[in-house]
Amino acid sequence: MVEKRIAGRWAADYVEDGMIVGLGTGSTVQYTLERLAERIAKEKINILGIPSSIATEKVAKALGIPLTSLNEHTHIDITIDGADEVDPELNLIKGGGGALLREKIVAYHSKQVIIVVDQTKMVDLLGLKFELPVEVVPFWNASIINSIEKLGCSSNLRLDKNSLFKTDNMNYIVDCMFHGIEEPEELSADLNAIPGVVENGLFIDMASMVIVGKKDGVEEYSID
Ligand code: A5P
Repeated sequence: MVEKRIAGRWAADYVEDGMIVGLGTGSTVQYTLERLAERIAKEKINILGIPSSIATEKVAKALGIPLTSLNEHTHIDITIDGADEVDPELNLIKGGGGALLREKIVAYHSKQVIIVVDQTKMVDLLGLKFELPVEVVPFWNASIINSIEKLGCSSNLRLDKNSLFKTDNMNYIVDCMFHGIEEPEELSADLNAIPGVVENGLFIDMASMVIVGKKDGVEEYSID
């Protein structure tokens, strides 16, 4: 999709020589990775990437982007990642690809987080259409899911073909339909308070800027 390509490539130009760069996950960030690899080759910028998933690690390695980890570098200068939904306050739902835990760790340790999306991801209210992904430990799921649903959703354990989807951390994902999330901060805290919930896909106050790709350019949004 051309809009994803435009947003993904645009964001890569915010990366400066010498930066530690958090590398998000998904089809939009794929274009960011390609543009970063071009800049490394042409402009000879020196950067180190910290991938937010095994899939991104593989792509970055194949493209020749030098990598490090949050063990070697505890602070990230800039992270570029995608999102499934973005609300007017730039709060996000993420985790459509199942990478939400590492994505949230990477975003948390970043000075600046740039989110790259196409217009379809911009919503008035989170969770009206998109199911909120919640990562849970891979045992005692019936009880954990029961507690999650008491917060006001119906849910499904995510499948991968005929078996249960496993995250990079060997956990499961519960996709939760809330039909609209009015209090995302409160819901995020309530979900994470349930023992067995590892993390949820609500990213509150984490995005510094959202870049929306259009056919003929981008729109940039940030909260002052
Ligand atoms: C990965 O778990 C997600 O958070 C992705 O960042 C999100 O689903 C966006 O993906 P696309 O850029 O492929 O739409």
